[in-house]
Amino acid sequence: MKDLNTFTPLFQPSAEGGTPRHLVPVLRAPNKRDAAAIHTLVSQCPPLDLNSLYTYLLLSEHFRDTCVVAEDSDGIEAFVSAYVPPGRADVLFVWQVAVHERARSKGLARHMLTDLLRRPELGGIKYIETTVDPDNHASRSLFASMARQLGAHSFETSLFEGHLFGMQQHPDEPLIRIGPFRPA
Ligand SMILES: CC(C)(COP(=O)(O)OP(=O)(O)OC[C@H]1O[C@@H](n2cnc3c(N)ncnc32)[C@H](O)[C@@H]1OP(=O)(O)O)[C@@H](O)C(=O)NCCC(=O)NCCS
Repeated sequence: MKDLNTFTPLFQPSAEGGTPRHLVPVLRAPNKRDAAAIHTLVSQCPPLDLNSLYTYLLLSEHFRDTCVVAEDSDGIEAFVSAYVPPGRADVLFVWQVAVHERARSKGLARHMLTDLLRRPELGGIKYIETTVDPDNHASRSLFASMARQLGAHSFETSLFEGHLFGMQQHPDEPLIRIGPFRPA
């Protein structure tokens, strides 16, 4: 399997001279016209919590510098939302990572996180933080893989315990903190 971290986007010219097909997804910041497609994608990626469409509009409009979508000829196939917590300029908090089933296990989620860290405006980031459901092995493997790639330690502490979710039956969401690593 090819590692997307070594890819640059490739295009396959169509035989009829029409729109070229993307052979690997193109990564870019989202914009507000993407919010409905992102909402649909997240709805197809259990066990993620589906937020309101308005949340994805806000993320695409106000937090686009810290979010990324992957798009191929079939549309948006992956999305990462993240933000820099107020007053903590060296931390990127990763909120949701959603990769459509058709695009999984090709290194896309890791590639998108790496892409974010390479953005000039995020050049001062030294820590990634996220919360993960202890039973979500794919998510835990993704962040363990990121820690290895960054050559950084990973620490786990409690953050949002199940009882904080009120009447929802929600598992604990412990915090994973990766770093410090050298700014990209
Ligand atoms: C979790 C998810 C984002 C991973 O996306 P992906 O593009 O398939 O992940 P990658 O291919 O970049 O894999 C990154 C690492 O995680 C590992 N991994 C990915 N899916 C895995 C799985 N189902 N089980 C175990 N490990 C897995 C890969 O082996 C890789 O590790 P490596 O670098 O040591 O080989 C995707 O499965 C998904 O969208 N799941 C549903 C939503 C979700 O749970 N999101 C995470 C919450 S933040």
